[in-house]
Amino acid sequence: MFYRISNCRACGGIELVKVMDLGVQPLANDFAPTGGECAGYAPLEVLFCRTCLLAQLSCVVRPEIMYANYSYVTSESQTMQNHFTTLMRDIVDETAKMGALKAAGMKLLEIGSNAGTLLKRIKDGNDEVLGIEPAENLAKIANERGIKTICQLWGEPVGVELGATGYRADVVVARHVFAHVDNWKGFIHALEFVTHKDSLVIIEVPWVVDMFKMNSFDQIYHEHLSYVSIHAIDRLLEGTQFLLNDVKHYSIHGGAIALFLKRRGEKFSEIAPNQFGDETNLEDQWRNLEETKDLMVHELKPEVRRAISKGEKVCGFGASAKATVWCNAANFSSNDIAFICDSTPQKQGKLVPGTDIPIVPEELLMEADYCINFAWNFHEEIAEKHKAFTDRGGKWILPCP
Ligand code: TMP
Ligand code: ZN
Repeated sequence: MFYRISNCRACGGIELVKVMDLGVQPLANDFAPTGGECAGYAPLEVLFCRTCLLAQLSCVVRPEIMYANYSYVTSESQTMQNHFTTLMRDIVDETAKMGALKAAGMKLLEIGSNAGTLLKRIKDGNDEVLGIEPAENLAKIANERGIKTICQLWGEPVGVELGATGYRADVVVARHVFAHVDNWKGFIHALEFVTHKDSLVIIEVPWVVDMFKMNSFDQIYHEHLSYVSIHAIDRLLEGTQFLLNDVKHYSIHGGAIALFLKRRGEKFSEIAPNQFGDETNLEDQWRNLEETKDLMVHELKPEVRRAISKGEKVCGFGASAKATVWCNAANFSSNDIAFICDSTPQKQGKLVPGTDIPIVPEELLMEADYCINFAWNFHEEIAEKHKAFTDRGGKWILPCP
């Protein structure tokens, strides 16, 4: 089901030290009905590379197990739509600056395009879009929505195949997929076949520095193989056809960075990794997060138990991967959290992986006295939507930051 890594995926280094241990956990998005089959469990521990400052999981769950039928659907929430607007504005500004923007529109390739949520928006304009998505269920939804999507895992085989047809993208976007990839060198190399000398490649990933700011250890799960620092990206790109030209910071998903990559050549210059943000003492910060995680887990449990002993009902909101991490780290069962509300039809009627906590429609929130919002990254929007919950005395508990 999984294999252990021996070298750092950015620099090849072997001085990898353990900085975080979340025990043995189920796959965070492996939702199954009661009595249904689960893919299994794997160790969840983070190793830190002292050479290039990349933190990475010690064990890689095989992608064919993780992504065959994948239930993570890109949010269609207002928060996400606002992010897409900002991101697309930044991309258009950048391509205009480079003179690559064509009146006929640009060719945009999205890697890990999920159900086509971002591409659908872009396609409404003049632009030609293409998605690459390994999850069959999601590629199918995208194609049915009219977003041409190739169902494959991004890497050299699909890059070579696409490049051989003469296809060259003006812009390649890879949102929240890079941290899921083990073979980073192969991922970057494959981009050579589908880009031209002015192409812009945008890789959006959670930034490890934001994770420390938010204490969001619940972003650590088997899908997230890497916890990205700009230093590590700089090391990775050494000797490749691409350079790091810019970095932009966004608040989405608790803090993310977009790495703007361009082809090497006389046209574009490289930024120094420390030009963008402070990434000093990362190893110490990992050790602090490990301690804070234990404190946070040990605080939430008694808070829940106190409410229950007073005869109050506790539920959760958002059956996100973060919810799975929390519930397994804290060993919560349905005796603690009666149910978790989530609007995703594919998750409803199933259980939070590794627990007996059922996932139910959002409306059931009104039955609870306390609600732990595991989708804390959308809290403002959710609290506004469910104002009736607090109006009748319901209380939100935010596990993070
Ligand atoms: P994510 O943070 O990994 O995107 O997960 C958020 C989860 O919360 C996802 O399963 C969808 C759910 N959700 C709702 O049920 N209602 C909402 O209004 C929002 C914003 C999210
Ligand atoms: Zn390294």
